[in-house]
Amino acid sequence: MSDARSPALQTQGLVKRFGGIVATNDVNLTIERGARHALIGPNGAGKTTLVNLLTGVLTPTAGSILLEGQDITRLPAHRRAGRGLMRTFQINQLFGTLTPLETISLVIAQRESDGARWWRPLDASAERRDEAAALLERLHLGDVLQRETAVLPYGKRRLLEIAVALAGRPRVLLLDEPVAGVPAGESREILDTLAALPADVTVVLIEHDMDLVFRFATRMSVLVNGAVFVEGEPDAIARDTRVRDVYLGQAHV
Ligand SMILES: Nc1ncnc2c1ncn2[C@@H]1O[C@H](COP(=O)(O)OP(=O)(O)O)[C@@H](O)[C@H]1O
Ligand SMILES: [Mg+2]
Repeated sequence: MSDARSPALQTQGLVKRFGGIVATNDVNLTIERGARHALIGPNGAGKTTLVNLLTGVLTPTAGSILLEGQDITRLPAHRRAGRGLMRTFQINQLFGTLTPLETISLVIAQRESDGARWWRPLDASAERRDEAAALLERLHLGDVLQRETAVLPYGKRRLLEIAVALAGRPRVLLLDEPVAGVPAGESREILDTLAALPADVTVVLIEHDMDLVFRFATRMSVLVNGAVFVEGEPDAIARDTRVRDVYLGQAHV
């Protein structure tokens, strides 16, 4: 019973404790449909823990998570992905011996089997290859379709992570530091890709690179010590002296 007016993603009183550490402290977050929502905050603020709670890698100590109005708090990670909540695939989980074309074709085949289509086109594999090639072309991977993933430059492998997530046709996409570790010369293609993500996909971005965050986000939540410290539009966040204090010496907010 998904409600068309409910937010894409919502947390209510979300708490995660690790022993004595409160990594997530009563987080009430609302991510609107189609948003470009950034989660920022200093190291140790609880950003990755929050993504792990949202995707089902971790179980919350208390609170709930709603995807398009439906409670998913107790759904295992793969069932959340099946409902369209996806995060970028981690690089070391990509198959190094496969090419990008083979990797994306596999993801599409997986998506189709999940969808329980009762019919198959005569040549499903050719159709998948065409879809995979078109997606890879859009993600600046057209020139390396047939190269082994293991030999690709780091920036290209990070683009492939995003391609894997997009091939699953996400409704909500969580990106945890997509340009971390990418050399400056290779980050341009990732920025272009993020700017060109489908408008109907809701995107939650965690990123340290403030230039990227401020160029991309339409809404921001600042986490500090596991809690939402401030939330608002990028302009207001940039002017907020409390946010500046939190980041002093860390980033140029
Ligand atoms: N598995 C874990 N066990 C114990 N403490 C953890 C674990 N994961 C994260 N923490 C702690 O929770 C806090 C938030 O960490 P994290 O979510 O990684 O922050 P961020 O991604 O914002 O840097 C930190 O104090 C960190 O040490
Ligand atoms: Mg982190």
